[in-house]
Amino acid sequence: MLCTIIIEGKEIRVKSHSNLLWVSLDNGFFIPNLCSIMDKHQPYASCRLCFVEIAGRPEPVTACSEKVHDGMDIKLASPKVTKLRQVAFDLLLSNHKLDCAHCVKNRNCELQRIARAEHFKLRGRRFNKIDLNLPPDDSHPLINFDRNKCVLCGKCVWVCQKQGSSVLDFAYRGIKTIISTFADKPLSETECNSCLACTSVCPVGALYLKSLLPGARAN
Ligand code: SF4
Ligand code: SF4
Ligand code: FES
Repeated sequence: MLCTIIIEGKEIRVKSHSNLLWVSLDNGFFIPNLCSIMDKHQPYASCRLCFVEIAGRPEPVTACSEKVHDGMDIKLASPKVTKLRQVAFDLLLSNHKLDCAHCVKNRNCELQRIARAEHFKLRGRRFNKIDLNLPPDDSHPLINFDRNKCVLCGKCVWVCQKQGSSVLDFAYRGIKTIISTFADKPLSETECNSCLACTSVCPVGALYLKSLLPGARAN
């Protein structure tokens, strides 16, 4: 069944109960997002970047956890929304090892894309910088894993489970949360089947193919 929603004053006919984030993106309305996965029915809703305002709701809501309904009236860039997104973005960057010039994801990075689209600075000053200083894992023959660049989107965890491996998972809680293997083993000592799916979903330069490194030999 179709319904009509209004995004930034524009009426759009969409499937009832579809996900607001995907509907918006499909119709050309950019909403920053990092942790949403189209095939995952229960969103993590953890990056807090996809805030929007819905008429009649007292506070902004995360678009990735909203289902559309007839008459829904959505504003994407109110001052409240922009402020919430900016705080979430600065928080993500507070423990992100920012080194774009030497990063394999430079110019193909979701953080850079969001910063450009939302006019955010990558070097925000709102929060003190936390240096995680975690040793990069280069033990796997094909994959490098630099957790100092991880934004905890959870996409690698989800895709690894979907591939039947469950090698990667969230470890610890709160500000100590990281992505880890069982007992924090190097990737080469896990049941990783080298499907490489994690490297294709990682939106930043945390999990990536060694072949992307400058000077890597092409096969
Ligand atoms: S992950 Fe993105 S923002 Fe971070 S250093 Fe790499 S290119 Fe820069
Ligand atoms: S390693 Fe990449 S895909 Fe996995 S949680 Fe971190 S940023 Fe997301
Ligand atoms: S995409 Fe909605 S909270 Fe991350």
